[in-house]
Amino acid sequence: MEKFYTTTAIDYVNGAPHIGHAYEKILTDVIKRHFSQRCNDAYMLTGTDEHGIKIQKTSASMGISEKEFCDQNSSKFQNAWKLLDISYSQFIRTTDDYHKKAVQKIFKKLLEKGDIYKHSYTGLYCSGCEAFLSEKDLDENGCCLIHKTKPEEVSEENYFFKLTKYKERIIKHIKENPNFIVPSFRANEVLNQLENIEDISVSRTKTSVKWGIPVLDDENQVIYVWIDALSNYITALGYDTENETEKFKRYWPADVQVIGKDILKFHSIYWIAILMALDLPLPKHILAHGWITIDEAKMSKSLGNVVSPESIFKAFNLEIPDPLRYYMATAAPVGKDGNYSDDDFKEKVNAHLANSMGNLLNRTLSMLVKYFDGEIKEEFIHKSELFDNAKKTIEEVKHHFDYFEIAEAALKITELVDTLNKYVTDNAPWTLAKEEKWTECGKVLYTILEAMTSVASMIYPYCPNIAQAMANQLKYDINTKLDDIDFKNIKAGKFITKEEIKPVFLRLDSELANKNK
Ligand code: MSP
Repeated sequence: MEKFYTTTAIDYVNGAPHIGHAYEKILTDVIKRHFSQRCNDAYMLTGTDEHGIKIQKTSASMGISEKEFCDQNSSKFQNAWKLLDISYSQFIRTTDDYHKKAVQKIFKKLLEKGDIYKHSYTGLYCSGCEAFLSEKDLDENGCCLIHKTKPEEVSEENYFFKLTKYKERIIKHIKENPNFIVPSFRANEVLNQLENIEDISVSRTKTSVKWGIPVLDDENQVIYVWIDALSNYITALGYDTENETEKFKRYWPADVQVIGKDILKFHSIYWIAILMALDLPLPKHILAHGWITIDEAKMSKSLGNVVSPESIFKAFNLEIPDPLRYYMATAAPVGKDGNYSDDDFKEKVNAHLANSMGNLLNRTLSMLVKYFDGEIKEEFIHKSELFDNAKKTIEEVKHHFDYFEIAEAALKITELVDTLNKYVTDNAPWTLAKEEKWTECGKVLYTILEAMTSVASMIYPYCPNIAQAMANQLKYDINTKLDDIDFKNIKAGKFITKEEIKPVFLRLDSELANKNK
């Protein structure tokens, strides 16, 4: 694998980042970090979606300019991703100049090609969705099914995109590539939507929406926010219809584009049609993740249950994002909805990261110091069956990631850690020490330490800080590629001193958590 390019949805900046936005960025970062262990060039794009009527209205109600409002809120997203150690390679803002220019050229190219045409239209526009709605998107009171608000009737002459021209090609692509949409059970949903598609309006008049990218040579029209937003995945790489930059040639097509299930239609139909119209290759996979609820309830401002990553950090006095990253990344099987609850969070990360994984390393190193003054003797080093076990786990983890089964891959890692814990219990090195069976005792400790290097590598995408702390104590290079793990890392000689041993993760303290709420 030469390169790996992954993207997230770009978030609307009309609010602050919450745990749902964070979920997606964590999933994508875990994928990116995993593939960085399998190739030399993993690239991740994220950013903010800053145009449209919603931003225009909110900033007006606050009495500040749209740009000022976007600047404030975009930095909130950037700060949140920093807090969560999201290792994005690039952050795009749709108000960036290069993006605006490229979107204008994309629009112009489609116009010249005849795929965009002008047409008078009356429709119902929902500003929450930033989309025209059809009958089936409305409830019995004529309100948007998602936002429960009445859409506005709009009568305008707009530009339209010939979506219908690409309908058959999209259907064929989805049918011929069963893994194009992940999870595959969502493909049918898209195929059903494709049955009834019509050409879509891709501009608004400046009088109805002024905060957007103007159409070149027709300043009275503003490019539809979704056309603007979807283009970010290629404008970020320098694509502008005339020039295919080195960067674009290197990374496009994307290996996986991660989005929420609510915006699958925009990505698997509109975006694909735009790419077809531009004669560009299609992304290899579109991963539609599920939604995160809070204590099993939908997150909403009106319910007052919106949880931000910062509030979780504060509540649990987190010093590193790893527990939250681990919890979110394993919250649900790929594509299914997941839930966040304080109690479950605490219980799961204490069990998996502190008790099971962290403790195993800590105990083993402590025994090495206690019985052997921290030294690995030549005769401890041997080939253990457990290494075959760990090798098998690496292959299983890779296989799951090939299908973006991130929670499933994590389960394999915890199973391996359970096996290692069982091995310690079964072989009881403390008893061997008591019986002065020193070589046998040392072999058990060596086996665990060597196997733990692979655990550090596999857990790294989820918990980069914990993995690094483990690697430091194991004298292991955390940048080792997965295929290069050879179970020959632990060398004979003085290995560790008592002072060097530190718990890699401390249990979350519930009393402390409640105090901070
Ligand atoms: N701006 C558009 C995306 C344009 S992509 C070219 C948008 N923005 S959003 O801020 O509403 O959502 C951004 C992402 O966060 C989407 O993928 C959405 O599915 C995801 N989530 C928003 N709330 C969520 C949850 N409660 N749970 C999980 N993900 C959710 O849509």
